[in-house]
Amino acid sequence: MEILGLLYEGKAKKIYSTDQEEQLLVEYKDDATAFNGEKRDVISGKGELNNRISGIFFRLLTENGVENHYLKEISPTKQLVKKVEIVPIEVVIRNIVAGSLAKRLGLAEGTILPQPVVEFYYKNDQLGDPLINSSHIAVLQLATKEQVQKMKAISLKVNEIITAFLRERKIILVDFKLEFGITGDGQLILADEISPDTCRFWDEETYEKLDKDRFRRDLGNVEEAYRKILNRIGGEENV
Ligand code: TMP
Repeated sequence: MEILGLLYEGKAKKIYSTDQEEQLLVEYKDDATAFNGEKRDVISGKGELNNRISGIFFRLLTENGVENHYLKEISPTKQLVKKVEIVPIEVVIRNIVAGSLAKRLGLAEGTILPQPVVEFYYKNDQLGDPLINSSHIAVLQLATKEQVQKMKAISLKVNEIITAFLRERKIILVDFKLEFGITGDGQLILADEISPDTCRFWDEETYEKLDKDRFRRDLGNVEEAYRKILNRIGGEENV
């Protein structure tokens, strides 16, 4: 596999084309941003940690029958993925109240939800990724009704798989964000990344935050927290 040009540079990743038409290379960067890019920093080692962590979660999902874009790890910060057209919707699943849900509904952070909450956000930096519902998705033609149903069903399945996996490792999956893409042959599959940048992870015993909230809220030890996640989910395995 040969790396060709840079196709796209996002806030936390770079995407390169390869000599394989249907495959892209994702490079995880050390850059961190929050609040739609207003807060910025470089967290040394983050790219490598997120590449490894995301790879572990995608392989777990593949083993459990959830189709996704991940193909293989190429280097400490790079992974090969299937080429997809990203659907401009972020699906957020919440098990425990935190972040924007606490603000929006006036609920205390840490409140256990009686059932998972499913939310959709419009992936649009200019608008600051607003919360949207299925009618908005329909009028904006972001996805079909069937695709929305499928994204919701897959996201809830991902929640069950990762929640159970992390529970055995004494980590609580508080909430997370997923993105989906359409393959060349029109299939909707899970894409993007699953890492402490895109999930909230709390230590089961101490409730210590082991995710990007450490950066968002200036709690310090960001890299150490991400490393704890990698170590607990088995980062020493051969990849
Ligand atoms: P929120 O509480 O800020 O809405 O975040 C919900 C979840 O989504 C949390 O696990 C972090 C993740 N997330 C992203 O991955 N990207 C984003 O841009 C935002 C705002 C949240």
